[in-house]
Amino acid sequence: MLSPARTEERAGVSILVFGDAGSAGRAAAERIQSTVHAAVADRGRAVLGLASGATPRKVYSHLVAFHREGALSFRDVVTYNVDEFYPIGPLDPKSYRSYMHQHLFSHVDLAPHHAHLLDGTVPEFFVAEHCAGFDRWIAADGGIDLQLLGIGRNGHIGFNEPSALSLADALALPTRLTELHPVTQSDAAREFVGEHRVIPRALTMGVASILAARSILMLATGTHKADVVARALNGPMTAGLPASLLQSVASRVTWMLDEPAAAGLF
Ligand code: GLP
Repeated sequence: MLSPARTEERAGVSILVFGDAGSAGRAAAERIQSTVHAAVADRGRAVLGLASGATPRKVYSHLVAFHREGALSFRDVVTYNVDEFYPIGPLDPKSYRSYMHQHLFSHVDLAPHHAHLLDGTVPEFFVAEHCAGFDRWIAADGGIDLQLLGIGRNGHIGFNEPSALSLADALALPTRLTELHPVTQSDAAREFVGEHRVIPRALTMGVASILAARSILMLATGTHKADVVARALNGPMTAGLPASLLQSVASRVTWMLDEPAAAGLF
């Protein structure tokens, strides 16, 4: 794997800091590649949890490059995405399904029926059953080998937004329909071309399913993430900052950062 400029173990969490965002993205892709190889060798399949947003784009371009070089096959891979807007059509370019086709699915040998996303088209009365089914499918596939995550400026993971829940309730959150926090809505305004156009609700994998993954890879890059990264790693575990809940499974979590995102840590 590409060597980080700095590594640190903090309360059981591995923190790898890279010179720039490109190197962090490449290292994340290499970690995914080695996880796929190990899981396929072990159990005949690998289950990946995937994320969208600006941060993982470079990761996906490296995975596509590895595939083109013959260094990575998705034939025995199953994927589950962490979130999707609701409601949204599958052909809407702002849907995370479109994003995944654009950045990964259409470029690799992943079987179409192995790529799972929460479905922004299910009728509202069926949402709860759909979300419970999503968690059951992950379990039936043997659980997630590696969950790739990004972090929102307000500390969200997937679309698990800051809340006033007790710690126990926050850790047990299932996959569900959720309301987007004002900070998330304002950050999404660029893609939706105006805050008033942002779809204010979403389906998200629950905190419980995320934390159950055998390994969690959190990727954060850029100065705008420095404050929230420091609070998630150094501050208390609280539902008010969902990424801090990763502290509860510290030994399974790796943070990959670039220098600007790590600026508040050292
Ligand atoms: C988005 C998504 C998350 C993502 C996070 C960070 O809104 N719901 O899955 O990880 O916010 O996004 P970005 O990488 O664009 O900063």
